[in-house]
Amino acid sequence: MECLLTKGKQRIKGEVRVNGAKNAAVAILPASLLTEGAVRIDNLPKITDIGRLVEILKALGAKVTFSEGRCIYIDSSDVHTFSPPPSLVNTFRASYYLMGVLLGRFGKVEIPMPGGCDLGPRPIDQHIKGFTALGAQVELEQGLVKIKAKKLRGAHIYLDVVSVGATINIMLAAVKAEGKTVIENAAKEPEIVDVANFLNAMGAHVVGAGTDVIKIQGVSELGQAEHTVIPDRIEAGTFMIAAAATRGEALVTDIIPKHLDPVIAKLREVGVQLEVGPDWVKVNGNSELCPVDVKTFPYPGFPTDLQAPMMVLLTQAPGISFLTENVFEGRFRHVDELKKMGARIKLGGRTAIIEGGHELISAPLRAMDLRGGAAFIIAGLISHGETIITGVEHIDRGYEQIEERFQQLGVSVERRIISKVFPGK
Ligand code: UD1
Repeated sequence: MECLLTKGKQRIKGEVRVNGAKNAAVAILPASLLTEGAVRIDNLPKITDIGRLVEILKALGAKVTFSEGRCIYIDSSDVHTFSPPPSLVNTFRASYYLMGVLLGRFGKVEIPMPGGCDLGPRPIDQHIKGFTALGAQVELEQGLVKIKAKKLRGAHIYLDVVSVGATINIMLAAVKAEGKTVIENAAKEPEIVDVANFLNAMGAHVVGAGTDVIKIQGVSELGQAEHTVIPDRIEAGTFMIAAAATRGEALVTDIIPKHLDPVIAKLREVGVQLEVGPDWVKVNGNSELCPVDVKTFPYPGFPTDLQAPMMVLLTQAPGISFLTENVFEGRFRHVDELKKMGARIKLGGRTAIIEGGHELISAPLRAMDLRGGAAFIIAGLISHGETIITGVEHIDRGYEQIEERFQQLGVSVERRIISKVFPGK
């Protein structure tokens, strides 16, 4: 079994370059199927979710070529099937974007319900509501979502919940629908803007991405495009929080600091010193930390994807902090593991109450989701002793060679193969 081994009581010191945004890339790659022309996508993160998507695109008949660095060419002129292989689709959440894309391209798609991180109930009713409004019929048959439309027609869609996935998926289906689509109460995440920019580069007419009203004028065809994926604000935030929690110093580069405004503001409230440049942030965690209230919200609120790393930081801020998870109902699975390390955390509904200022003691930890796993690395770095983290496959879904990145930051995180977490048992 693969695990990550962290040494404790270490301070981060160094520089790290942030890669392309996972949550943009996992929509942009499938979006390339909307054109029969070739596309070039740069700054792709080398993470397992992207590897799986490439496999799916190939299975559907696309020609995929990697060039130097982080660049990929996709030619989907020969894509012939509307039914991606279930074994690949099941493994990650963002496979749901194949629904919007294949519906847009073929007027038909058959796909299993998406897999991905278990963050509690993650319905896709808003995606379905959007497809239905565009004129599609949706059926659920033995775990397969079957969607078909004689013709997609633009529609006015008001989302009941602010959903990143539904906003992007409806956008993907609507770019080639006849007439105009309006998505109201749309999510405003930077990744949505990035996907819209890619669609527009292919010849789509999407305006308003980044606001809560997105208007899409359907076009009959899309063409060739080149696009560079935006930097991953969640990866950047993870390293920033790690530097703060270890009371270290980090220069986090190749980012768009504006996308990190809510994180920068909250870290400053905690007492972390931050210097912000045009495409970098310098973090100095060597000052007194204070307890804070954090509430996760859709962008531009504090990102739910940084809730778990933030919780680890708050275990080091003397006093009582409150961390309220407003986006996902069941996103506190990391709490029990952190408690094994001696973290004083109580859960009351959607709020975690953290009594900070106490040392963490290393314990074997099992990552059960991507961001929880990243938080455990940070916890391992600040604890006493060595920490073994299993469930590394969750972390690899969204962070490229996480151990090497932390090594660049001057701390010891190693990937090992072990047979058992507890020798002798
Ligand atoms: C995306 C991100 C994920 C991030 C999340 C919130 C990707 C691949 N993943 O996930 O990293 O944590 O946004 O920023 O981009 N909901 C419904 N019905 C729906 C859709 C969503 O009720 O049809 C609910 C969800 O259960 C959740 C909330 O809406 O409570 C927000 O979910 P959503 O924004 O859709 O998250 P994802 O797109 O799954």
